Amino acid sequence: MMFTPENLERARAIVARYPRAKSAILPLAHLAQDQDGWLSPEAMREIAALTRVEPAEVLGTCSFYTMFKRDPVGRLVVSVCTNVTCLVTGGPEVLEHLARRYDDDDVYVEEVECLAACGGAPAMQVNYEFHEGLTPEMAEEIVEAYKRGELIPRGVSGGRVS
Ligand code: FES
Repeated sequence: MMFTPENLERARAIVARYPRAKSAILPLAHLAQDQDGWLSPEAMREIAALTRVEPAEVLGTCSFYTMFKRDPVGRLVVSVCTNVTCLVTGGPEVLEHLARRYDDDDVYVEEVECLAACGGAPAMQVNYEFHEGLTPEMAEEIVEAYKRGELIPRGVSGGRVS
C-alpha cells in the first residue's frame, strides 16, 4: 500500500531532515509499517522513489532488521525471547503456550533472540513494548489485555517515527 496523503507529507518532511535522502530509508520504513502493519513491496518502491535509491536497496536494508515484516502480520506482534537466560527461566514454555493459544490473524507470535532484558527473564515484547518475569499464563493475560484494549499497542514498529 502507498502512503496516505498525510503520511506522504510526513515522509517528505522526514526526508528533508537529512543531508542525504537515503538516510531516511529506516524512518520511512517505520512509518510505512506503522501505517499498514507490514512493509509491502509497493511501500518499499515508494520509499525508494522518495529516497532516490533503487528498490533493491530498500529491500536490502529492511530485510536486515527482523522488526520489519515483509508479509502481513497480526495487529499485535508478540516477540518471545528464547535465548540463554530466557531459555533456562521458561521462555520456551511461554513461546509454546502463546503459539498454541494464538493461531489467528490478530496476534502474530514469533521467537526472537535476546531482547536485552535478561535481568527480567523470561521476557517478551508486544509491539516492541517490554514485558518481563513471565509465566505462560501471565503472558497470555498480557496479550488478552491488549486485545481488550486495556493495554494500548503502539504501531507494529514501535511508533518510532514522529
Ligand atoms: S536472553 Fe532473553 S532477554 Fe536476554
